[in-house]
Amino acid sequence: MTYQKRILITGGAGFIGSHAVRFFVNTYPEYLVINFDALTYAGNLENLRDIESAPNYIFVHGDITDGAVIKQTFLDYQVSDVLHFAAESHVDRSITDPLGFIKTNVLGTVNLLLEAKSLWKDAYQEHVFYHVSTDEVYGSLGSSGLFKETTPYDPQSPYSASKASSDHFVRAFANTYGLTIKISNCSNNYGPYQFPEKLLPLMINNIRHGKPLPVYGDGRQVRDWLYVVDHVAAIDRIFHGGQPGETYNIGGECEMENIVLVRLLCDLIDQREGKEPGFSQRLITYVKDRPGHDRRYAIDCSKIKSELGWTPATGIEEGLRRTIEWYFTHQEWLDHVTSGAYRTYYQKQYS
Ligand code: NAD
Ligand code: DAU
Repeated sequence: MTYQKRILITGGAGFIGSHAVRFFVNTYPEYLVINFDALTYAGNLENLRDIESAPNYIFVHGDITDGAVIKQTFLDYQVSDVLHFAAESHVDRSITDPLGFIKTNVLGTVNLLLEAKSLWKDAYQEHVFYHVSTDEVYGSLGSSGLFKETTPYDPQSPYSASKASSDHFVRAFANTYGLTIKISNCSNNYGPYQFPEKLLPLMINNIRHGKPLPVYGDGRQVRDWLYVVDHVAAIDRIFHGGQPGETYNIGGECEMENIVLVRLLCDLIDQREGKEPGFSQRLITYVKDRPGHDRRYAIDCSKIKSELGWTPATGIEEGLRRTIEWYFTHQEWLDHVTSGAYRTYYQKQYS
């Protein structure tokens, strides 16, 4: 079969990447989707059980810090476009291991850019290098204002500094060599398949087990929450219709203080489980703050709304109910992740 595009999706076994892989495989049978993932602790092929046998899907076990493997993959599949998700993504881990974040997020991104530059050199305008990035590159807001695409970069954590650096390299390859690039900077995602180190799945798992719910500092930090399926819809719009060389901010238009969000989550779970009001909130425990904790993120996503007609479709209560339902009906997935059993799925299925 001749495919219209042969898209390399990096980090496709992770949280957002797996939603994107599923979406592209199912929506575009005329595209070959090559999921390139190192299967770090955050990579889980159980996320893609439902599409792993699709004819237009291929999994390649590889590390973006390894230039030789990237080269081979580009050549083997004549990669036409890149959707780059692979990254170390957890801020807390970046505080204890900044070098690991530089290696994957900066060096790994440059490795991919170098290969795209080499393979696509005769027709850069026919290929897209899309970098999936974060709103954290803009730093922390005070009580007012929104991040716009023109907001100066001011990253505050090793994670956001590494993502800011990779954004700069992506733009530098467009400016210097002529690659066609697109970048999106998105706010906090939530939904099914998120690794339970991040706020919402961690809290859901702890509520399930009656364990304390650790809220950092005073819990008044603000994040802008977006249901992951809406993020993938935005990426689809930008990948196909966004202007070459442009950046798009993506957000949920849903600012919430962490403590307010955690209380709402508790209440929705209590309703589902038929518990009395306040049952889960009693587990909330204030703990030591994250060092350098950014106070507030909020996104102005008017550019993608007006240019590409995208809007965050899922309200927070609906998104949380769907997420809760998913975790409560996929306890095996959560148990495999927490026990480590998910790490053997690759060997069982692929060797
Ligand atoms: P994740 O941690 O769930 O998944 C990361 C994936 O990348 C995993 O499958 C992992 O195995 C893979 N990976 C890590 N290092 C690799 C390497 N060296 N080579 C190949 N694969 C490697 O991350 P996520 O939350 O799905 O985030 C995906 C992307 O979106 C990241 O670039 C992140 O910065 C960005 N982002 C995330 C959010 C969010 O709220 N989660 C918001 C905005 C942007
Ligand atoms: O803004 C986009 C970013 O959102 C992405 O680029 C990152 O990859 C993603 O991890 C996320 O970063 P955050 O640091 O905002 O997400 P996290 O889920 O770790 O934390 C959300 C908020 O909740 C943050 O203010 C810290 C707080 N928190 C987190 C944990 C894990 C707690 O209070 N307690 C916790 O146990």
